[in-house]
Amino acid sequence: MSTLKNDFFLKALIGEIVDRPPVWMMRQAGRYLPEYLKLKAKYDFFARVETPELACEITLQPIDIVGPDAAIIFSDILVIPQALGEKVLMVEGKGPSLPHTISTQADIDALQVEGAAERLDYVCKAISLTKRELNGRVPLIGFAGAPFTILCYMVEGKGSKTFDKAKQFCFSQPYLAHQLLQKITDATISYLKAQVAAGADCVQVFDSWSGMLSPVDFTNFAYKYTRQVSDALSPLCPVILFPKGSWYALGQIANSSVSAVGIDWTVSAAYAREQTGGKITIQGNFDPAKLLTTPAEIKRDVTKMIDDFGVQRYIANLGHGILPNVPVDNAKAFVDAVKEYKKK
Ligand code: CP3
Repeated sequence: MSTLKNDFFLKALIGEIVDRPPVWMMRQAGRYLPEYLKLKAKYDFFARVETPELACEITLQPIDIVGPDAAIIFSDILVIPQALGEKVLMVEGKGPSLPHTISTQADIDALQVEGAAERLDYVCKAISLTKRELNGRVPLIGFAGAPFTILCYMVEGKGSKTFDKAKQFCFSQPYLAHQLLQKITDATISYLKAQVAAGADCVQVFDSWSGMLSPVDFTNFAYKYTRQVSDALSPLCPVILFPKGSWYALGQIANSSVSAVGIDWTVSAAYAREQTGGKITIQGNFDPAKLLTTPAEIKRDVTKMIDDFGVQRYIANLGHGILPNVPVDNAKAFVDAVKEYKKK
């Protein structure tokens, strides 16, 4: 940590006093940047993900152009199903497609946990290269999908608004679902440990779909496994859990091994603070659609957001990924507004 020129982010994560909150944006490397679109026109999605030089270049683009306090390695959560042996395609305009979905014991038995992390060595190479290129400018975040969110894609085979098929699998064949979740968990733990060994300063676990579960099902199908991931990783680096939509679980999460929890814009600062009681850092929760307003409105709303959360144990971020149609100037206005925040 001492070699970092900007350690706001790591300080806020572990609860050290800072002058202003750090800021980054989920999905900050991506389609709203013309520089990214240039590479997208030349190389297909998995070529960008699997070529360390390209992943490194894409990771650095928002750092140079928008100026957040942390970088997040360019990759995708769906590399875990690939490493386990399930085919994943990224279809332009449609999103991910997994043509051979998981539904039987034989499908689960065929998944190869052993060697999964090694098959993702290109991500670790991208991390070491990016750490070198960052040269201590800002810390680097590694990441993975949470086991439940990964199950959603492996069983449903594509994105969905409701993931009915994945939930049906969990509820009607819990014995199989738990085996699948455990296999994903074991592979994810080895993979995240390898990311830390390669130089990731912290890891974020994206549980993008956990909010579709009731509180009891969240504990049983989502949290049981994210907790294993955070318990295994937290001795090595700070862990951020982003259980989108699972506002009901904040109290539970505050008493676990994570350093921070990400929240979306449907949760008020007062509620999140009350539930977490200062035990962990809170990250969030600007509505990504507000980046489609104007720089002046963004600055006003960001200032209000920090007033509400407070400066300490807080990381300014969006409540979900940045939208592709956000003007770069507006993304910059978001980051600048946090950097310019002055306590009243
Ligand atoms: O945050 C970053 O800048 C790092 C890169 C990153 C990507 N995906 C690159 C990407 C991260 C952290 C992710 C995480 C991810 N991927 C999540 C969790 C976060 C969330 O948004 O809830 C999920 C659910 C996925 C799965 C996924 N990947 C989907 C559903 C899609 C298609 C829809 C979409 O968002 O575009 C992807 C493709 C993808 N992953 C793109 C990018 C930049 C867009 C495709 C492209 O640029 O060619």
